[in-house]
Amino acid sequence: MIKLGVNIDHCATLRQARYRQTKANSGVIIEPDILQAAFFAENGGADSITAHLREDRRHMNDADLAALRKGIVVPLNMEMACTPEILKIALRLKPDYICMVPENRAEVTTEGGLDVIAKFEDISAAVDKLSKKGVVCSLFIDPCIEQVEAAAKSGAQSVELHTGAFANAWGNVRKKDAQKKRIAAACAYARSLGLTVNAGHGINYLNAREVVELGDFNEFNIGHSIICRALAVGLSEAVAEMKELINS
Ligand code: PXP
Repeated sequence: MIKLGVNIDHCATLRQARYRQTKANSGVIIEPDILQAAFFAENGGADSITAHLREDRRHMNDADLAALRKGIVVPLNMEMACTPEILKIALRLKPDYICMVPENRAEVTTEGGLDVIAKFEDISAAVDKLSKKGVVCSLFIDPCIEQVEAAAKSGAQSVELHTGAFANAWGNVRKKDAQKKRIAAACAYARSLGLTVNAGHGINYLNAREVVELGDFNEFNIGHSIICRALAVGLSEAVAEMKELINS
């Protein structure tokens, strides 16, 4: 059984498109409601809810994370950069899981994996602090053996393999196969080191089955494609369809 983590950042992006400057207590009806979106995802069978608190708060904000922490039944997975400000918030919020990601202000979405080797001291110190609070730590890395090795040494319990390069190679069989080999090798190596392995980025209804076949994954984290599908069938149904697909 592969678990499905549903990233609902895009619901907050939609809210910000209209209500960026509206105060929470101004009396205006602010939609969509992020907690309600999480409930719909839970109803569809989401095994966890993922929200990324970015430094610039371009979609999720501190109040959203606090509401999700209190309101949802399934585990909360907080995506976060390894910066002092966000780490402080994570230590206070104590989500069930965190996934540490690199963050670049100009990027549209998380573009590459964490360079755990280059940032080893900061990452392992943050993992240590979070683990002591009972937060399960995952590192979002490219499917690269050296990064897997560094992730294991950092004390993180889990890695999330970045599947974006695989997804972007969809139209080119040779490139896609090369990416699949990288993911399979990284997954097998991470499992051999005792890490839990998740996968995410660019996974959709067309390519998900191909990722399933690549190894022993614990969870897929999916956002964009599920929210797009939700426009046609609703969020609960979109989640249920993906859950069935990855476990069929
Ligand atoms: N995993 C991580 C670490 C991410 O940063 C993202 C994007 O926010 C996702 C998964 C979900 O990617 P997508 O929206 O392409 O499904």
